[in-house]
Amino acid sequence: MSLLIRGGTVVNHDHSRRADVLIEGDSIVAVGASIAAPTGTEILDAGGAYILPGGIDPHTHLEMPFMGTVTADDFESGTKAALTGGTTMVVDFCLPDPGQSMLAAYQEWRHKSEKAATDYGFHMAVTSWSKQIYDEMETVVKTYGINTFKHFMAYKGALMVNDDELYNSFARCAHLGAMPVVHAENGDVVALMQEALIARGVTGPEGHAYSRPPEVEGEATNRAIMIADMTGTPVYIVHTSCRQAHEAIARARAAGKRVYGEPLIQHLLLDEREYQNKDWDHSAQRVMSPPFRDRSHQDSLWAGLQSGSLQVVATDHCAFTTEQKRFGLGDFRKIPNGTGGLEDRLALLWTAGVATGRLTKEEFVAVTSANIARILNIFPRKGAVAVGSDADLVVWDPKATRTISAKRQMSRIDYNVFEGFACTGGAAATLSRGRIVWKDGDLRAEAGDGHYVERPAFPPVHVANSTWKELTAPRAVARGAVTP
Ligand code: URP
Ligand code: ZN
Ligand code: ZN
Ligand code: ZN
Repeated sequence: MSLLIRGGTVVNHDHSRRADVLIEGDSIVAVGASIAAPTGTEILDAGGAYILPGGIDPHTHLEMPFMGTVTADDFESGTKAALTGGTTMVVDFCLPDPGQSMLAAYQEWRHKSEKAATDYGFHMAVTSWSKQIYDEMETVVKTYGINTFKHFMAYKGALMVNDDELYNSFARCAHLGAMPVVHAENGDVVALMQEALIARGVTGPEGHAYSRPPEVEGEATNRAIMIADMTGTPVYIVHTSCRQAHEAIARARAAGKRVYGEPLIQHLLLDEREYQNKDWDHSAQRVMSPPFRDRSHQDSLWAGLQSGSLQVVATDHCAFTTEQKRFGLGDFRKIPNGTGGLEDRLALLWTAGVATGRLTKEEFVAVTSANIARILNIFPRKGAVAVGSDADLVVWDPKATRTISAKRQMSRIDYNVFEGFACTGGAAATLSRGRIVWKDGDLRAEAGDGHYVERPAFPPVHVANSTWKELTAPRAVARGAVTP
């Protein structure tokens, strides 16, 4: 089965050129001017549009039990939503309950993800520390092909891990050639501020934002980076939302550290005024951690994407219905944290980034696909329009227009935090491993079409992160990682 995409401009993270793309089976076999179609080849006319590597969203929570409920989008609705917007791979999180075996959690998540319509992978969360977890991490890396471990510095009393656990786990990551991924907010301080607010009678969604100021994130981001450096590992900071966190990342990078930052499309476009809405539902629907910030923080995030000090735009798609959000009526601490964005990320970033001149189309590809493929060690299998790469592609029409509305979305929730946004640019067609799965408004992907993507361990980068050089030697790291 072969397919030829004609009449488009191929856009990669480093260059663009007018070229046809020939696909055989799952993969791209030729990229070049005027490729002759072998007999029987299906032709897809790009009509002058751009041909981009499919978007990769490295931060989703599909069918995730969280805060007493379960996210409304599962691996079927979430990944189908992704395809309609040009995203062809998601990386979700296996979340063991504190004390639960990682191997059991992995089996549970692989079962849920059998319904995925796009390719997908996992980060494994470290939610507690024990000899068992220390041992299991090796299986996770070597057998399951997961090279990233997620750590929550917030959600005290639930998922949060403390500095000693961070240090031990980061050291273990360094030794295994894996990378820690961090939710950086000071969970102890958040818990105290929450209590103080409730005691003063602040119970509405605005209390959520007051309890998580930028300093809480800036401090934790800096702490995570320093602990990573002490253990000799690179580190990836998720949902970087404020100037203080961005500055900590930029400072570390300027000193030669492998530190990565991931703004969300929500934080780039929505601001703190969302929590002052008189409609409780409106504000609660926008409760997520970290919360939306003021314009000065948005400007800092955009500057980071432009300069390269921030590398990835994700969604943290963690969708709850209005009914689920209402669990927190009368106490903002109980509003399930999370917002959606999986199907709209690319169009929103194109509109606010490329159409405004803030980003080039090549930078757009970098921050939506190529950079994260490189960071997660799956480049150029993913993240490139190149010979040998998986044919995960988007025919991107820069002139397409669409107004976002919950009425027309694939996601299962009953609202959209971007309701009414007028988007320029959209996926005219999406290809997943060589198959046209979305075209002209017609979704042809089925639950179960997606493949699990293994990600090999990283080569060691100890030298660049060697605050404590003796700990970064392989034997010393094993000693440094305190086995309980
Ligand atoms: O509020 C959020 N971000 N919910 C999802 C879980 C997380 O912290 O990423
Ligand atoms: Zn090592
Ligand atoms: Zn988080
Ligand atoms: Zn998240």
